[in-house]
Amino acid sequence: MTRVAVLKGGRSLERQVSRRSGARVEDALERRGHEVVAIDAGAELVELLRETAPEICFVALHGRDGEDGTVQELLEILALPYTGSGVSACVRCADKVLAKYLMRDAGIPTPDFYAFSETAFQELGAGSALPAIEERLAYPIVVKPASQGSALGIKFARTASDVPSALVAAFSYDSKVLLERHVAGRDLAVSVLEGSDGPVALPIVEARPREEDFYDFEARYEIGRTAFICPAELSDELTDRAHALALEVFALFGCSGFARIDLMLSEPDGDLFVLEINTVPGLTETSLLPQAAEAAGISFDELIARILDRAAIHAVAH
Ligand SMILES: Nc1ncnc2c1ncn2[C@@H]1O[C@H](COP(=O)(O)OP(=O)(O)O)[C@@H](O)[C@H]1O
Ligand SMILES: [Mg+2]
Repeated sequence: MTRVAVLKGGRSLERQVSRRSGARVEDALERRGHEVVAIDAGAELVELLRETAPEICFVALHGRDGEDGTVQELLEILALPYTGSGVSACVRCADKVLAKYLMRDAGIPTPDFYAFSETAFQELGAGSALPAIEERLAYPIVVKPASQGSALGIKFARTASDVPSALVAAFSYDSKVLLERHVAGRDLAVSVLEGSDGPVALPIVEARPREEDFYDFEARYEIGRTAFICPAELSDELTDRAHALALEVFALFGCSGFARIDLMLSEPDGDLFVLEINTVPGLTETSLLPQAAEAAGISFDELIARILDRAAIHAVAH
């Protein structure tokens, strides 16, 4: 039996998803006989961690703080082992702009993009560069904030007149935004789980909108509007390619424990592009990593046990 603190909730816009992930993790840990302390990651986080003195922290926080390295940094300072990736991997993955530059430099396929800060628009006249960008990326252009998840702040601009409002929406989430080439095709998620023999890619999940309006992708996140197919119906060759790409990305970013890599499969040419890396993917009843694990014959309780097994302190000596 181990005393485990489950960190959930927090200040992020994905707070509610995190509360559901956390609650499910707590149940799984209790069924395994662990002593579980649930902690909502707020102003008292450090104090509560000191008081409860857990042996391990299970980070079930999504988005800001929990996925961007902030909480991980605190856990390093407190010398508490924690699940998932270390600080530096979280920092690299949580910032989509940084992640895309790293992938581009490493030769990992990711959709073409340009990134701007709010100050570039306000103080350097970046707005005048938009026509050149629009010409290079071609419409529709995907406009998204550098951080966030669950499709928050993402807009598909179909024409030049859609761009300003899409930028305003993205800037309301983050002071850095991406303008990205739209990939027409299929939405795939590859989960990676690290075992004692190293990271393994799990069966691929395809998110398929039930309706044919590909631009209204926010609707995909509404219950019932998206079908999740696992394993995705792909040729062995494509499955192998997607698995290899996800493992390459997991290693490049220095991820630990588990992660979910979101890809687009372009059609009809069959090219794969990495959109982003989630270091704390959802763990709710409807989340993709648990579905992928299930398809690989790994129950939710077993999945959580394996993630807990890999918990660590990542810092090299200071
Ligand atoms: N460049 C793109 N081309 C086509 N679809 C995209 C593109 N970028 C994002 N999307 C759609 O938006 C969803 C969310 O985008 P993603 O970059 O994974 O951000 P997040 O999941 O953090 O909100 C994707 O799963 C995909 O359906
Ligand atoms: Mg995503």
